Amino acid sequence: MVDYKSLGFVNTKEMLKDALEKNYAVPAYNFNNMEQLQSIILACAESNSPVILQVSRGARKYANPIMLRYMAEGAVRMARDELKATFPMALHLDHGDTFESCQSAIQSGFSSVMIDGSSLPYEQNIEVTKKVVEYAHKLEVTVEGELGVLAGIEEDVVSQKSHYTNPEDVEDFVNRTRVDSLAISIGTSHGAYKFNLKPGESFPELRFDILEKVSKRLPGFPIVLHGSSSVPKEFVDMVNRYGGNLGNAVGVPEQQLRRASKLAVCKINVDTDGRLVVTAKIREILNEHPELYDPRKYLGPARDALKDLLISKNVNVMGSAGQG
Ligand code: G3H
Ligand code: 13P
Ligand code: ZN
Repeated sequence: MVDYKSLGFVNTKEMLKDALEKNYAVPAYNFNNMEQLQSIILACAESNSPVILQVSRGARKYANPIMLRYMAEGAVRMARDELKATFPMALHLDHGDTFESCQSAIQSGFSSVMIDGSSLPYEQNIEVTKKVVEYAHKLEVTVEGELGVLAGIEEDVVSQKSHYTNPEDVEDFVNRTRVDSLAISIGTSHGAYKFNLKPGESFPELRFDILEKVSKRLPGFPIVLHGSSSVPKEFVDMVNRYGGNLGNAVGVPEQQLRRASKLAVCKINVDTDGRLVVTAKIREILNEHPELYDPRKYLGPARDALKDLLISKNVNVMGSAGQG
């Protein structure tokens, strides 16, 4: 059993409380490899932002759980010893699907886990979430639950349609499970194709009315938004220009996310945008320099581009810059 505190992580309790009080959101950035992790650390050090390092089950499998635990520890050491940065860092399991997947992450040093029972019938969602909370809280690990279903792909679960969170369920769910934060569905979705817009059509507004109703029923309680990439056109165009084919990729406008982060939304999840910028940059470099074969020559600039994007998110979307 690895204690997250010995690795230098904190759980998300104080982070999310501070974000709620000061009207910003803590960024939760997914990573799968060293370069992505370096970008996150460098961006949050430079903009002095708290951060939630977010790892999906797929990412744990990809990097190897043992490797990943040391990478995360290495990220803390890099921030503290080399960058002399003091911003708080949490290590969070994204979309845990069973009690066992959450338990395994906690045992290897995660300070926070999500148990995503949102695709289960309501009572079963409560049952599994409660079981994870009971185990996690004994070890001072925080737990995120989810009510409502996002459209798109969540790990292996694909949903064609979103089911917005029913505000009437939230008090019962939180009271019975004792979760520390709640992910809700208000119109965001996972991946690069969030809305099927016809030419000339503008982005639909997120369901701020649902967010308001939820926060009235749960005053002072941290709300989480998944599927919050903005899918910047600049990077979609860049991928397409250099041989990619991303079709009609479109994301959540930044202003809507900033509006949410000033309300009860205290944690905003971003994965797709990081993938996009890295892919765009690598495609550009390999296209313009076909003679290259040293991965550092294209992964390095991709890392820089991701860092710049995350700094801009911390400033303009999360409002977390300067809050570290
Ligand atoms: O919510 C899903 C995250 O973007 C993780 O995606 O399962 O492909 O690592 P992944
Ligand atoms: P995006 O696909 O919009 O980046 O969402 C990521 C996410 O919600 C991870 O849990
Ligand atoms: Zn998600």
